[in-house]
Amino acid sequence: MPITIHSEKKLFHLFGKTFSYVLYVDEKGNLLNLYWGRKLPDGDVTYILKEFRGGASFDSEYSRLPFELPTVGTGYFGMPAVRARNEQGNDVTVLTYDSCAQVSGKPALSGLPAVYAEADGEASSLVIVLRDALTGLIARLKYTVMENLDVLTRSVELENGGSENLNLTNMLSASVPLPGNEYDILHLKGGWARERRIVRRPIGEATTRVESRRGASGHEENPFMAVLTPDTTESQGEVFAMLLIYSGSFLAATEVSNFENSRLSIGLNPDVCSWLLAPGETFQTPEALLVHSAEGLTGMSRRFHETIRTRVCRGYWRDRERPVLANNWEATYFDFTEEKLMAIVDEARKIGVELFVLDDGWFGKRNRDNCSLGDWVCNMEKLPCGIGGLAKRVNDAGLRFGLWFEPEMISPDSDLYRAHPDWCLHVDGRARTEARQQLILDLSRKDVQDYLIGALSDVLSNASIDYVKWDMNRNMTEYFSGAQLPERQNETQHRYMLGLYRVMEEITSRFPKVLFEGCSGGGGRFDAGMLYYMPQFWTSDDTDPVERLCIQYGTSLVYPPCTMGAHVSASPNHQTGRATAFKTRCDVALGGNFGFELDLSKQTPEDLATAKEAVELVKEVRKTLQQGQYTRLENPFTGNFAAWQFVSSDEREVVLCAYQRLTMPNAIAHRVRMTGLDENARYVDQETGETYSGAALMYVGLPVGYLRGDFTSRIIRLKKA
Ligand code: GLA
Repeated sequence: MPITIHSEKKLFHLFGKTFSYVLYVDEKGNLLNLYWGRKLPDGDVTYILKEFRGGASFDSEYSRLPFELPTVGTGYFGMPAVRARNEQGNDVTVLTYDSCAQVSGKPALSGLPAVYAEADGEASSLVIVLRDALTGLIARLKYTVMENLDVLTRSVELENGGSENLNLTNMLSASVPLPGNEYDILHLKGGWARERRIVRRPIGEATTRVESRRGASGHEENPFMAVLTPDTTESQGEVFAMLLIYSGSFLAATEVSNFENSRLSIGLNPDVCSWLLAPGETFQTPEALLVHSAEGLTGMSRRFHETIRTRVCRGYWRDRERPVLANNWEATYFDFTEEKLMAIVDEARKIGVELFVLDDGWFGKRNRDNCSLGDWVCNMEKLPCGIGGLAKRVNDAGLRFGLWFEPEMISPDSDLYRAHPDWCLHVDGRARTEARQQLILDLSRKDVQDYLIGALSDVLSNASIDYVKWDMNRNMTEYFSGAQLPERQNETQHRYMLGLYRVMEEITSRFPKVLFEGCSGGGGRFDAGMLYYMPQFWTSDDTDPVERLCIQYGTSLVYPPCTMGAHVSASPNHQTGRATAFKTRCDVALGGNFGFELDLSKQTPEDLATAKEAVELVKEVRKTLQQGQYTRLENPFTGNFAAWQFVSSDEREVVLCAYQRLTMPNAIAHRVRMTGLDENARYVDQETGETYSGAALMYVGLPVGYLRGDFTSRIIRLKKA
């Protein structure tokens, strides 16, 4: 069991293949975090406690302690992980050790996405119970070590075991002290059409908050933050990373105390979420996934990728090869007829596409983005044979059929809104702020959830639909509910997420074979919470291949390529106006779930031939691309080149993808050094027949040729001899 409890010493040692996490209960019953880092033989590091005692008399004894779940009012001045205000109006909370229990396997979190175990042997769990004698607040700290995946999960369940109401105003999922302050921090900052840019800088002397208050994880930041030793590169250095498995507003933060120690925390954003806990009630926080790597960022990403791909993503499509698709959005926008769509389908079939996706504009009277969200009934003027008829025509042409929805939204100009004007998030007496001319359904309400489950089920059961693109195109403004008591209004954002997860759980289990792809104005809600319900996500509305190099590279810090939608679109690109070769666009899209997003019926024969070749290649190597091990090789944020590699799970096939931004005349061919290969094995280039030793590919590097022209690329397939 990767959890050892030394009960006489009140010491808990949790360990994976390469890390240890050590907790200790001191003589006053405080639960302290003594260590998170490289694996220790037995975890007994209680000797470090001396450091935290004594010192200047100015501070209380609590100021220095490395609390595992810091609270308020005793002299700990950092950010509280739990803050509970009682009916006397104060939030002093003293949580001391009560008991612990070990469980094999991993209990599910009710109503929330989380890492799961398929067999008890995969996971070992520990629950530590803390209690505040005065208010009766009980905190159950839940830990699971996924031993083979080499990761730790944490969450907290709070129960009101007293007789008065408690108002929870901080409910973080994890907060871990780290020694010293010689660190860098790393997070993924972005915006619409430029998601997940890698930001790295020194931790500094002040608190850094990486957060969302939007009611969605959002484009601006991802619910992820890492603390790194300054020497960290892809292949070396120590990384402490946290990812919140949640899709709503969040807070990740680093703090540096005046004792020059640091702390990394993650959880619900206290600015937009509090919770009234009546006697006997419980509140479960979202789960945090904690990754430690002593092998730099590659080691961190590997642990995130394996965990997300195999134990966050679920269902029929988790381990299946994902279909090559063609989506009509950038091909036609709202301006389509059945014949126009079928012309695209016909060309798609000829080049080997397997799935056709009809995007926005098929329902109500939606010919622009100003109406009809909520009216999920086919526009028969546009599509005279209905969704069922169109799906049949697409199926008859040999392709599967997929459909776009934006289920969480309601247009003021819709029959649904006219019938239920109180069904959106709003505040009575105030204007309802529109974005993209739409409002958000109040999914904190069960009647609205039930309506949505019914409306989606109707469409999905009345046509042959194999794929759903689940979009969400605005964030929350008046995030309050007409159906909630005043004292519970600040719960609305989280109640919305719980409602949304209920709807998604219900729909994905009613239609288990449908492939769901999440979307939010591109990659605005690309998070592990969504991936629990939908194994892939549209990475960005920016389909420019040069931009995509950075977007996909940044996304890959946390999320595996099989979760990223990546499509070939028109040139010049609709978002940037940049012109690129068809092949480059294909080679970049090959770094994710491959598809097309342009009018295939209007391409030149040469481009269609390139498209056909790309589809053939994708089909041949997609098992490796989607289920193999992905490693970043060259960073497009810092250089003119980008490169990454995929190695199949049996290690026999390697796909190297190399890209160049601007060409340089009179240059020596660029060489890419690969990684993680078998030094002594021989690898054969499938195109040229040339063979190389693994050692040469890694240490000397593979010349990817002189790439003539801007925005060029090469895909090299190697097989172990
Ligand atoms: C969002 C999505 C796009 C497309 C449009 C349709 O912007 O990200 O891919 O589906 O909505 O309105």
